[in-house]
Amino acid sequence: MADKPKQPTKPSRRKFLATGTTAAGAVTLGTFASPALGFHASVDDTLKVGLIGCGGRGTGAVQDILEADSRAKVTALADAFIDRVNITKDILQTDVADKYAVAEENIFTGISCHEEIVKTDIDVVLLATPPHFRPAQMEAAVRAGKHVFCEKPVAVDVPGAKRVLAACEEAESKGLSVVSGLCWRYDTAVNEVIDRVLGGDIGEIVSIESNYLTGTLWHRIPKPDQVWSPLEQQLRNWLYYNWLSGDHITEQHIHSIDKVAWLYGDTPPESCYGVGGRLARTEKKWGNVYDHFTTVYQWADGRKAFCHCRQMDHCFNQTDDFAYGTEGVAGILSRKIENGAGTWSTKRTSNRMYVNEHIKLTQSIRGDGPINNGHYMVNSTLMALFGRDAAYSGKKLEWDQFMQSEVVLGPESWADQDYVPDPVAIPGR
Ligand SMILES: NC(=O)c1ccc[n+]([C@@H]2O[C@H](COP(=O)([O-])OP(=O)(O)OC[C@H]3O[C@@H](n4cnc5c(N)ncnc54)[C@H](O)[C@@H]3O)[C@@H](O)[C@H]2O)c1
Repeated sequence: MADKPKQPTKPSRRKFLATGTTAAGAVTLGTFASPALGFHASVDDTLKVGLIGCGGRGTGAVQDILEADSRAKVTALADAFIDRVNITKDILQTDVADKYAVAEENIFTGISCHEEIVKTDIDVVLLATPPHFRPAQMEAAVRAGKHVFCEKPVAVDVPGAKRVLAACEEAESKGLSVVSGLCWRYDTAVNEVIDRVLGGDIGEIVSIESNYLTGTLWHRIPKPDQVWSPLEQQLRNWLYYNWLSGDHITEQHIHSIDKVAWLYGDTPPESCYGVGGRLARTEKKWGNVYDHFTTVYQWADGRKAFCHCRQMDHCFNQTDDFAYGTEGVAGILSRKIENGAGTWSTKRTSNRMYVNEHIKLTQSIRGDGPINNGHYMVNSTLMALFGRDAAYSGKKLEWDQFMQSEVVLGPESWADQDYVPDPVAIPGR
């Protein structure tokens, strides 16, 4: 499943403790052509990589880009917390020692560490923090002329998504590449299935059912030597605060919603209604997010998508998408098509999608020309937020009205250590 990427080798706790901590109305989503603009002169040899967000995915993404490009090196690391940097540093120094070239002065910490890392001479920056910070990080990266690998989702509210879209347009005008972490778009077998569906193997798509039904994820508590402020507690457990993660419909189910969007031509739906709530994750430690959502999206031509996500243990689990057509049905992640001609299926020969993203990114920098996934990564994020807000509000929402939202989630200042998150949304209130 996409949210369980290849986990890098974890150093032992003993090794971790031995490591020093001394280092410092509607937005028009245009399609992006790929203009043959110039690239950094500095990338003719070593491709210098920086990471913002030294967690599981960020550390894995560094290893993926180092595997994708034999002349890439990681030269800068940034995270809100030094202990997280040190874990990543240990893993990389163990697993890819010959490609680890991070000087101590290229290690940055703090909630605004993105502002510092982009001042270094990195060519590419990998954005893998909680999505709340993505708009500010995208803006800083593109302003500084860096190519970007941008994990999903890209924002937690409409104004944030619009900022990312603007940054992607600026990247396009500067000839910078932006590759999205919506990884199924880089999976060979899933591309084959979707190509067949879009090529007419099931006739015209009438509706889509898309499911991300899974168990619960981690929860973090302070170590004996740590004292966390209310803000730090939220940052460490960002999944459970909608101002940081967008809620799990955005953070995780976006992978399903993105496949729906892909099948429907990456055009936004016209309306959405939904239901959701929290039944199993009710304690305070689970923040203010729901544990289940069902959302029904409708497009202008009447076609619909029925999307379900749940994070609950001991329940039926399924992560798959089913496109129903006038002449057959296709399982997207199960890679199976049934139509009048019989059943077709294909094997998934490898889990290379995480590396494929970086092969495309690095090849684009090294001469293939810029690629920009901005359009679909913003559209799919907005669709997830649309579903979330429909379920939170209990209303049927119209896209045009939703896109006018000026609600910005989170504290006015990231320095507000005592920030109190919004209460759990109660539909209808
Ligand atoms: N494409 C995929 O399949 C996939 C899989 C997992 C996660 N993700 C995405 O990757 C991102 C990170 O997820 P993760 O699982 O690695 O989480 P994680 O908690 O393991 O890592 C996040 C890191 O970001 C750091 N951080 C928090 N705020 C920061 C800030 N302002 N500046 C710098 N660092 C900050 C945290 O300290 C932490 O080390 C999320 O957007 C998530 O949705 C994508």
